[in-house]
Amino acid sequence: MRTTTGTRVRSRTGPRARARPRAAIPNAAPVLRPMSATTGMEVAGVDLRQPLPEETTRAIRRALCEWGVVTFRDQAIAPAQHLAFARRFGEVPPSEFLVTAPGFPQIGEIRKEPDQTRNVGGNWHSDHSFDPVPPLGAVLYARELPARGGDTLFANMAAAYDSLSDGLRETLSSLRAVHAKRNAFHADDRPERRPSAAQRARFDEEYAGRECVHPVITTHPETGRRVLFVNPTYTVRFEGWTGRESAPLLQYLHAHATRPENTCRFQWREGSIAFWDNRTALHYALNDYHGARRLMHRAVVAG
Ligand SMILES: [Fe+2]
Repeated sequence: MRTTTGTRVRSRTGPRARARPRAAIPNAAPVLRPMSATTGMEVAGVDLRQPLPEETTRAIRRALCEWGVVTFRDQAIAPAQHLAFARRFGEVPPSEFLVTAPGFPQIGEIRKEPDQTRNVGGNWHSDHSFDPVPPLGAVLYARELPARGGDTLFANMAAAYDSLSDGLRETLSSLRAVHAKRNAFHADDRPERRPSAAQRARFDEEYAGRECVHPVITTHPETGRRVLFVNPTYTVRFEGWTGRESAPLLQYLHAHATRPENTCRFQWREGSIAFWDNRTALHYALNDYHGARRLMHRAVVAG
């Protein structure tokens, strides 16, 4: 079987998978398995403590761009190895909003403690879409997990674009949308995410200038695919439209983009990694594990 990018894919079981000889060069023979029909590719046969051959790095990058997210299992890596892997794909800047791992300002901690109810990333979004150049992606590594829950959902926004009608694509092609950091504190009124009036006033002041305008349809710089680029966390309205005018069409697009057909779900185990392409995929961190700790390490690859 081959994917649309021409990458070799093997089924999870079967004689070929069992008969695979041990690669003479470490990490030279990754095995790629789609996580759904549109979104996500699991990469097996790779140990990220070992050097990655150039060809393997390219295969991972192709799968990342085409499928929106690549995942790895059972990786026992230290922060330095995490950082080295992320740097194969671009610059890794210091983490902006998060507490960082000791000695590694580029490795941010995504942490939820048993007494906290709000999590990080608990609604559909692409990271930093309120910045002029959002990140290429992020490499998230599971260090400590709840006994159940805490999965992450991904949506492939190129697949979302592909499944729009010609008429709506044409309409969207001339539109641009405003993305604002502070919208994250207005867009979601679920009780566990609703900030107090004082918190909201502080966020509004702190992030007043943190917004920008992006085309609603972008072109992926590596695959050339068209991508629907809006998300319910940061997208405020269409440029030149009021918020009230924008809301019905934005709500339709958010619902369309996150239809099950455009998504996959990643169930973490300790040592798992998800590396998403922030230009292709939205993600959603489920917040269904109150009373337990979840600790992830994140390295962001600059756009
Ligand atoms: Fe995120």
